Amino acid sequence: MREQMTAPKVRDAKGGPKLRMITAYDAPSARIADSAGADIILVGDSLANVVLARDTTLEVTLDEMIHHTRAVTAVKPAALVVGDMPWLSYHVTVEETVRNAGRFVQEGGAGSVKLEGGRKRLPMIEAVLDAEIPVMGHLGLTPQSVHAMGGYRVQGKQVEAARGLIADAKALDAAGVYSIVLEGVPDLLAELITKEVSAATIGIGAGPKTDGQVLVFHDLLGLTDGHIAKFVRRYADLGAIATDAVAAWFEDVQKGDFPSDDETYHMPEEAVRALLSEE
Ligand code: KIV
Repeated sequence: MREQMTAPKVRDAKGGPKLRMITAYDAPSARIADSAGADIILVGDSLANVVLARDTTLEVTLDEMIHHTRAVTAVKPAALVVGDMPWLSYHVTVEETVRNAGRFVQEGGAGSVKLEGGRKRLPMIEAVLDAEIPVMGHLGLTPQSVHAMGGYRVQGKQVEAARGLIADAKALDAAGVYSIVLEGVPDLLAELITKEVSAATIGIGAGPKTDGQVLVFHDLLGLTDGHIAKFVRRYADLGAIATDAVAAWFEDVQKGDFPSDDETYHMPEEAVRALLSEE
């Protein structure tokens, strides 16, 4: 039995062996992630694209996120489960933000929430922390800002933008977040932020110098279609393996090779005789 991971333990792990974070959206993926040794399981709003086949993460609702968070926490992972707050669940008022973050804990069973954005989101982040809910920040290429950014573009490539992201990271750190995801930023910027903050940084498309790394479960296992980002490394092609397996079963069905006698239930002999003699 692995020791339960918590938000304070994630912060304390900064600078040690790299933190391992991966997304999961249901019980089977959570079991796999946890058995493989994940420190953190993120129920990401990438649920929208990866599982629900929607165009952007803006299209997933709070209720859907909580439903999937519940499925992940139901398997009782040793990893810390982080619920990703969807777009508009923390943009309207501070009060609504706290209530919505609380639903991830109360209904979803999560040990933390993640929300995107820097100084602009500080009042919301501070209020959630005040309600005793650990917060993971998310800076850089924040997918919920796709329209404002004009597409999925690497952020912080120029000095002014890089300075802005450093200021955002310091502000989140001072507010008390235990961890910050750095997505789609140059490696040097991720390294500088990692040195500047006491929160553990988790990179995705941010180079190797962060305190940990995160990838989307389905990307890593070859279960996604279409464009694959430069930072994704595929460790398996489960999509092809699964298609072959299902096609092999269909073939057995059509040939009459499925089910076999061993895969079939039988009646006791006397019941068979009695049933057939009645006819
Ligand atoms: O939703 C998600 O999968 C994420 C990760 C990419 C960090 O936010």
